[in-house]
Amino acid sequence: MPETLTITDNRTGKKYEIPLEHGAIKATDLRQVEVKDDEFGLTSYDPALMNTATVKSRITFIDGEKGVLEYRGYPIDQLADPTSSYLEVAYLLLHGDLPNQAQFEGWRQNIRLHTYVHENIKKFLEGFRYDAHPMGMFISTIAAHSTFYPEAKDVMRPEVRLKQIYRLIGKVTTIAAFAYRHSKGLPYVYPQNDLSYCGNFLNMMFKTGESRHALHPTLERALTLLFILHADHEQNCSTNAMRSIASSHVDPYSAVAGAAAALWGPLHGGANEAVLHMLEEIGSVEKVPQLIKDVKEGKRRLMGFGHRIYKNYDPRAKVIKGLADEVFEVRGKNAKLDIALELERVASEDDYFLKRKLYPNVDFYSGLIYEAMGFPLDFFPVLFAIPRTAGWLAHWQEQITDPEQKIVRPRQIYLGERRRTWVPIARR
Ligand code: CMC
Repeated sequence: MPETLTITDNRTGKKYEIPLEHGAIKATDLRQVEVKDDEFGLTSYDPALMNTATVKSRITFIDGEKGVLEYRGYPIDQLADPTSSYLEVAYLLLHGDLPNQAQFEGWRQNIRLHTYVHENIKKFLEGFRYDAHPMGMFISTIAAHSTFYPEAKDVMRPEVRLKQIYRLIGKVTTIAAFAYRHSKGLPYVYPQNDLSYCGNFLNMMFKTGESRHALHPTLERALTLLFILHADHEQNCSTNAMRSIASSHVDPYSAVAGAAAALWGPLHGGANEAVLHMLEEIGSVEKVPQLIKDVKEGKRRLMGFGHRIYKNYDPRAKVIKGLADEVFEVRGKNAKLDIALELERVASEDDYFLKRKLYPNVDFYSGLIYEAMGFPLDFFPVLFAIPRTAGWLAHWQEQITDPEQKIVRPRQIYLGERRRTWVPIARR
């Protein structure tokens, strides 16, 4: 079977044979399809990149129809093993293989060395109002780090890149916790590097008078699992933003800040916060039918449902749903869980959702767990951004070292005015 595609241009009658590679054509091969020699040639129109692969990647595999998610070939449910750690998974994403014990110790040590932030960051945070959104503070503080590490712009040097990877993974939890403490008017808690990645983060968030925050193993484990589940998700909106920004060879602090900004929107990582607002607004199980009616009439969306890629149950949501029971056992049951379960039950039997293949996504239950753990609602997108940093950085590395990549510069179909004549303002 020839691995080619034959295109007939009905305007000219000409035929073109276009090679196929990995089941795709190269969009630039369409350029040869033209009516006149001097024109640009055929282009493809794909708003929102619905059917355009922009990279050849080896990091994360998703089969949305079957509900499969794998990091570097490891299924997500295996990575959610009771003994796995977030830093091991971050290593896997960035290095391509799971670390052995010695590699892991070295990796963890290097990240721990970089958990402290410059003391000026505290002054920087003081500039924010008391009610500043934590995600706004998080994004700006990450961007500000490019001014502390100007050498980071030397992105073509592997050792420079690795140092920024240690710094970013090490510092995102500190930046996030400092933003939270600022909004509460609480003193900042410095990193305690003998704790686990998530244990240290919880300590920096919630420690008050005691010498160390009393970590509950179930909650620490739950956060670790949530971090693992959120660590990467191939070419989503924020990762695409990361790759696009990084393609200009800007420093990774600026690129991660841009990726985090893309994550903040309610259609992406802001959805877990939106789910909680929605559950709060519904208020009781009896009001679920009215909400479903509104959704079906197109008045609103069922937040935490649906996915561009998954047309089946999101495999992350499966793990998270089980986790919710464990966390509620420790923290006491939350009435909103009943509303969420009822929404899922009704949706799973309703034609509107079945026909459109709308299932709960990662955000549907994660917010309930975060709330039960004591995180404020507006902090949820930050809890998504922290673990996703490893994924963004893995894609940054892949992008920077891929000889087929260049500065990202899509084309447009221009439909505006042409060649108008300037008229001075007094005569308009
Ligand atoms: N509630 C009700 N209807 C929906 C929903 C929803 N949550 N999602 C999609 N639909 C309908 C939509 O109205 C459309 O119907 P029709 O064909 O009659 O016009 C159909 O399903 C296809 O929707 P779409 O908007 O073309 O799908 P998309 O792939 O562009 O959007 C999505 C994907 C995630 C933006 C969307 O499902 C959505 O807005 N969900 C709610 C927000 C949310 O939970 N986002 C978190 C995504 S997972 C975390 C992450 O990776 O960021």
